[in-house]
Amino acid sequence: MKSIKVNLGRRSYYIVIGSGAIRCLSGLLRRYLLGYDNAYVVTNAYLYKKYGSLLINTFKAAGIGIKVRLVPDDEKAKSLAVAGSLLGDIAVFSKSRRVFIVAFGGGVIGDLAGFVAAVFRRGIPYIQIPTTLLAQVDSSIGGKTAVDLRQGKNLVGAFYQPRLVVSDTDFLKSLSLRERRSALAEIIKYGLIKDRSLFVYLERSLRAVLGLKSKALAFIVRRASKIKAQIVSADEREEKGLRTSLNFGHTIGHAIEAAGGFTRYNHGEAIALGMLVSSEISLRLKLITPLVFARIERLIGKAGLPVKIKGLKLNDIIRAHYHDKKFVGAKNRFVLLEGIGRFRVQENVPEELILRAVRQRM
Ligand SMILES: NC(=O)c1ccc[n+]([C@@H]2O[C@H](COP(=O)([O-])OP(=O)(O)OC[C@H]3O[C@@H](n4cnc5c(N)ncnc54)[C@H](O)[C@@H]3O)[C@@H](O)[C@H]2O)c1
Ligand SMILES: [Zn+2]
Repeated sequence: MKSIKVNLGRRSYYIVIGSGAIRCLSGLLRRYLLGYDNAYVVTNAYLYKKYGSLLINTFKAAGIGIKVRLVPDDEKAKSLAVAGSLLGDIAVFSKSRRVFIVAFGGGVIGDLAGFVAAVFRRGIPYIQIPTTLLAQVDSSIGGKTAVDLRQGKNLVGAFYQPRLVVSDTDFLKSLSLRERRSALAEIIKYGLIKDRSLFVYLERSLRAVLGLKSKALAFIVRRASKIKAQIVSADEREEKGLRTSLNFGHTIGHAIEAAGGFTRYNHGEAIALGMLVSSEISLRLKLITPLVFARIERLIGKAGLPVKIKGLKLNDIIRAHYHDKKFVGAKNRFVLLEGIGRFRVQENVPEELILRAVRQRM
């Protein structure tokens, strides 16, 4: 099974990727979680029904005790209330046992379980077994853990790295088409900021990816995970500007998501539109050519992601944009493209230019 290392000194860990990767779990636990013999598994009812017996058998075969905790299948699970309830539960479960936490699910479960692992006794080990495409290529890697407050998403959290990530691409086969497309937006983003050959692969093999062909899934998860791992290894806490590149398409994307009340467009759809706005700004600043812009627009459209903003008011998007936390002081800050696979961070993009680029998408 192929693996990728996230290089963080003593906190380094491996991401094991591929069809059937879960079958390696037993050996991996012996290697990376020696001495921890009880797993506290956080998942939801849907995933438990579908994959629960596979999971239980896998842990049993490894001689690991297991307690499963189901949480709501909703962003609402990322709350202090749910986290508090899990912490109480773990306090009891871990009384006479050496416990590690397992996040089995999408980004919601990964963020919640990771946060709980980070704060229980100031940190106990956890592993990620991501089951959505987004979680495999993005949220399970990098140690950003969080819960939401009523006042905003991800407001309470910690940087806390897992001991291991196991991305079994077979899990992705039960995902809805909309979920897969949404995650594809992030994968297109990786290609645009850092990996031209990934972008070219998507241009050629999108049908195999959307058709859930095992080889194609393993390839894109591997490539995307590698990029995320490299960026996190070089700039774990987003202090050197490199991790900022992951925000490509997210400044305006978040504004579109918010202006649509978080229901009109899901995250991936909104950032697909945000990437087009940022590409448009790059085009108008002559950083990329019209040909490159056309390729980006074509791939996003072919992936089944929106290329036009519908049903939203320009004013609402711009207003939401001013609330974006990614502003540094009074300056705006955009990740722009210099070509496919090359980005630059630019502050103080003229408001008029942003406005025109958004309007162009409507
Ligand atoms: N920590 C990070 O770096 C980071 C990065 C990006 C996003 N996030 C967070 O991730 C969350 C979004 O994650 P997500 O998109 O995975 O959403 P999600 O966790 O809500 O999962 C989406 C849906 O897919 C279902 N599902 C999961 N696995 C499945 C499978 N194999 N087959 C069928 N259905 C399955 C889930 O039950 C859920 O209904 C957000 O809370 C976001 O803030 C975190
Ligand atoms: Zn994103």
